[in-house]
Amino acid sequence: MTDKSFSDIPVDDLSREQAEVELARLALEIETHDARYHGEDAPLVSDSEYDALRRRNLAIEQRFQELIREDSPSRRVGYVALYKFDKITHSVPMLSLDNAFSDGDVREFANRIRRFLKLSPDSPLELTAEPKIDGLSLSIRYENGKLVSAATRGDGTVGEDVTENARTISDIPNVLGGDNIPNVVEVRGEVYMTHKAFTDLNKRMEDEGKPTYVNPRNTAAGSLRQLDSAITAQRPLKFFAYAWGEVSYLPADTQIGVVEAFRIWGFETNPLMKVFSDVSVLIAHYHAIEEERAGLGYDIDGVVYKVNDLALQERLGFVSRFPRWAIAHKFPAEKAWTILNGIDIQVGRTGALTPVARLEPVTVGGVVVTNATLHNEDYVRGIGNNGEPIRDGKDLRIGDHVMIQRAGDVIPQILDVDLEKREPSSKPYQFPVRCPACGSHAVREVNAKTGKTDSVRRCTGGLICPAQAIEQLKHLVSRGALDIDGLGDKQVDGFYRDGRIADAADIFTLRERDERSLKKLKDADGWGSTSAAKLFDAIDAVRSADMYRFIYGLGIRHVGEQTAKDLARTYGSMEAFTEAMKNLDDMMVYSDLIAVDGIGETVASALREFFGEERNLDVYERLLEQVDPTPPEQTSSDSPVAGKTIVFTGSLEQMTRDEAKAMAERLGAKVSGSVSAKTDLLVAGPGAGSKLKRAAELGVDTLDEDGWFKLIGR
Ligand code: IVH
Repeated sequence: MTDKSFSDIPVDDLSREQAEVELARLALEIETHDARYHGEDAPLVSDSEYDALRRRNLAIEQRFQELIREDSPSRRVGYVALYKFDKITHSVPMLSLDNAFSDGDVREFANRIRRFLKLSPDSPLELTAEPKIDGLSLSIRYENGKLVSAATRGDGTVGEDVTENARTISDIPNVLGGDNIPNVVEVRGEVYMTHKAFTDLNKRMEDEGKPTYVNPRNTAAGSLRQLDSAITAQRPLKFFAYAWGEVSYLPADTQIGVVEAFRIWGFETNPLMKVFSDVSVLIAHYHAIEEERAGLGYDIDGVVYKVNDLALQERLGFVSRFPRWAIAHKFPAEKAWTILNGIDIQVGRTGALTPVARLEPVTVGGVVVTNATLHNEDYVRGIGNNGEPIRDGKDLRIGDHVMIQRAGDVIPQILDVDLEKREPSSKPYQFPVRCPACGSHAVREVNAKTGKTDSVRRCTGGLICPAQAIEQLKHLVSRGALDIDGLGDKQVDGFYRDGRIADAADIFTLRERDERSLKKLKDADGWGSTSAAKLFDAIDAVRSADMYRFIYGLGIRHVGEQTAKDLARTYGSMEAFTEAMKNLDDMMVYSDLIAVDGIGETVASALREFFGEERNLDVYERLLEQVDPTPPEQTSSDSPVAGKTIVFTGSLEQMTRDEAKAMAERLGAKVSGSVSAKTDLLVAGPGAGSKLKRAAELGVDTLDEDGWFKLIGR
């Protein structure tokens, strides 16, 4: 097979060697097309053929992450701009909103409308008010109640076809519910991500050693524009419906009435939307929303007012790109200038040295800000390890005047430096090369495969580093891991400082040692007999926590929650897991490990490194003496779906997607997000689209929900 390419082999069936050859071919081919596309030559392939190449490249990279090439098309700058989704022309353009910045602007907006409609200045005028969600707008088309397409705003006239990705968002129904559904309706609204989902996702990315995202809006946009809808499905995106495009008939004659119909059809609509007939009360509502803003759990950047009466909207019409009947009342920009007083270095759980800006306190959007994230060494220096300037890098110096921005709950960022105010004597910041917590060398690792230097400098001290040890303990007791009630970051800090807990095993001997000790916990600052007893009980309660929680809690690099679950399911018991982990130098054991779905060389070598370290093994074994982890529920091997790969698609009516997945996994099946040659069974609810088609092409067995329940004997 030497000079034959492997381009006909489905991604799921490629061997590692074949994948390597394919990635090389794709890199070259895509580069050639890019050059022709940007140069004067006519493109050699159609947009969809080009897209297919990129999608295949990405799919292979997802399966074989260790094979990602230095010159991979997915790494190339301009990649996002280059990638082309299919285009959808909006049947009704997606417009933008004019802005109001003051209460006066809002009064003028209402007066303008009255003048245009020739209403007297004191005649009643109903306006709706609702939060302006800081996400990205999406137009979803339904024909006969079924979702047929979804498009981003794009330039307002032509957007990108993100239909498959939109189908994975649970706030967006695949089939409209209720009666009186128009034959054609385009429901429009905002895709967004909650603060919690954003921080959880970033934590997961960090655990898996992947780059983190900057803010919820960019993350939502990036997640919706994924080439693989299985990735979008893993991102908890949400959607509020607030507007419409083409409709064959409208279910109400007011703005609020139509939005109410959206809710009945199965959409989420914003609970803060209200109708007002007095501008002063409307403005009071704006200020009330502004007050509530920080507690909403998602980012908003203003309040949108719309004329409630649709007949009046029609009369008012549009001025250029804006409707005359709506306006966005923006919140004051959450930006401010302040002084960079210092740069602190925090040491994380895996030894990462993270610079944090200490700022002269300044009020931004009603909150006093004293620090800002500085990401990493290169960001602070403004140059990469290769000496080249980096995008967004700042060359920040202590004493600089910096502009900071606060967005929602997210930690503030530095946007700009005022170079004119810089002290001539200031010096570039010298990033420490020793760990500030333990003095060990701090190094930037070079990836053996790519030859690239890591952007993160890490302390090499491991568990002798107190900062790493504390962070490690905090991780072990945190929510995704053991989740010990009453043992949070603050308590861990205190216990580490007073010597009660030095490592994971100590947590579980706390009660026993306390009983023998003269310095009892109940007498310590901030504790009493009830809280101490409660804590000991909470610790006892997690001795039998699920096995994956212990594995995840070990805080091994690249082992996130999902990987921990994969490991628990693979080995089935803590004993078997331990046995394998201690023998990862044995090639048989090691290759069994990387054969596990979802585990590649990166995870396997991180495990080998962790368990190869004497000190880790010692803490691990002492921990295991104290606990009795619960193995994963045994999957029945005699079920009709054991060992099969199943895909669920369309809207399921008798179970949620999560329930369906859990049920199938309990029965020993593997659940996948996309249909391929490896799929054994597709369970399709109403509204199933391309996956059903693909399954038919591949001859994959397909069942509806009833058929599924029959098959599994329920
Ligand atoms: S109404 C024709 N309502 O703001 C009017 N827009 O600056 C259509 N947005 O592109 C828009 N929340 O992405 C409307 N409650 C809301 C909104 C909202 C966020 C976004 C939308 C639009 C942009 C205009």
